[in-house]
Amino acid sequence: MTTTNSNEVDHTTNMLKDKHVEYIINLDKKEKSFEYWVTEHLRMNGLYWGLTALNLMNSIDKMNKQELIDWLLSCQKPNGGFGGNTHHDDHLLSTLSAIQILVQFDSLDKLDIDSVVNYIVKLQQEDGSFIGDQYGEVDTRFSFVAILALSLLGHLDKINQDKAVEFINKCKNFDGGYGSIPGAESHAGQIYTCVGALAILNRLDTIDIDNLGWWLCERQLPNGGLNGRPEKSSDVCYSWWVVSSLSTIDRLDWIDNDKLKTYILKCQDNETGGVADKPGDMPDVFHTFFGIAGLSLMGYFDLEHIDPVYALPTKLLDKLNINLPWNK
Ligand code: FPP
Ligand code: ZN
Repeated sequence: MTTTNSNEVDHTTNMLKDKHVEYIINLDKKEKSFEYWVTEHLRMNGLYWGLTALNLMNSIDKMNKQELIDWLLSCQKPNGGFGGNTHHDDHLLSTLSAIQILVQFDSLDKLDIDSVVNYIVKLQQEDGSFIGDQYGEVDTRFSFVAILALSLLGHLDKINQDKAVEFINKCKNFDGGYGSIPGAESHAGQIYTCVGALAILNRLDTIDIDNLGWWLCERQLPNGGLNGRPEKSSDVCYSWWVVSSLSTIDRLDWIDNDKLKTYILKCQDNETGGVADKPGDMPDVFHTFFGIAGLSLMGYFDLEHIDPVYALPTKLLDKLNINLPWNK
C-alpha cells in the first residue's frame, strides 16, 4: 500500500496525500467563490477542519500561523465567546474550534482563559444540559463541546459534572445509542458527542457497551461505507462519528476496517484533491477532514494518530498532560 499523487494511479487503492494538502491550502484563495460566501459564518470550524487534516498529514507549517492567529483573536467577543467569523455572533461551537486551533499552533497562552471559561460555564443549565448560545437551544452536542473545551483549558471543575452526566444519560435510548435531547432518536453524530463527554468525565461505565457497539457496527453497509442512522445512505463523515465512538469503547474491530478504507479512498477527488461525502460528489473541507481522520484512527497510510474523543493529534494531548485512558 502506498501514498502517491500521480493521476495515473488508482485512487481507490492509494491515498492522494499531496493533493489533499494542496486542496486545503488553496481553500483560502477561493475567497470570491460561491462556497466561500455560503460558509462564511463557519470560517472558524472550517479552519479547524482544514488545519487538523493538514496536521494529520504532517503539513501544518504550510499555513500562515501568525496571520491565522490574528484573525482568530479578532473573532472573540466581549463576553469571552468566539464567533464563526469577525462579524458573527459568538457560539459554543466556534469557541471550541478556536481553542482546538490554538492548541495546534501551541498558542493557548494567547488566550484570556478566564473570560472563555466564564463564557462556557454560564451556558450550563439547571438540569445539567448546555445551550449553544444566547438563543437557548439545548443539545448533547453542546454538552460535549463545553466539556471538551473546558478540559483543554484545564477548568472542568467549574461546571457541575454529575448533573452533566445525568442529563446525557437521560438522552440514552433502549438501543444503547443517544439522541440530541431526552426522547430523541439515536444518531451516530450525537453518539460521538455523548460517548466523548462521558469519556472525558470518566463515566464510560454508564454506557451499555454491547448494545451500543452492535448499533454502531450495523451502520456499515455492503459498499463498506457507514451511515448515521438505520435506512440512510453511507457518507464519509460517519467514518468519524461512528469509528471514533467504536474506538473509544474499544470495539473498532466490530466493523470491516479494510472495506471502510476502500470506501473513503473512493470518495477522493483524483483531480482536485479533497474528499467528498460519497464517491463522485464534489469534495469539501468537512468531509476531507473526517475521511482523513477516519483513516488515521484505523491506522492507515502512516498518518499522525488522532484521538477519538478530542479530535486532535494524540501527541499534542500528551504534551498538555491530558489523561487518555481509552487510548491504549
Ligand atoms: C451529524 O450531523 C453530526 C452530529 C450531530 C455531531 C456534531 C458534533 C459536533 C458539532 C461536536 C464537535 C465536533 C468535533 C469533531 C470536535 P448532520 O447534521 O450532518 O447529520 P445528518 O447526516 O443526519 O444530516
Ligand atoms: Zn456527511
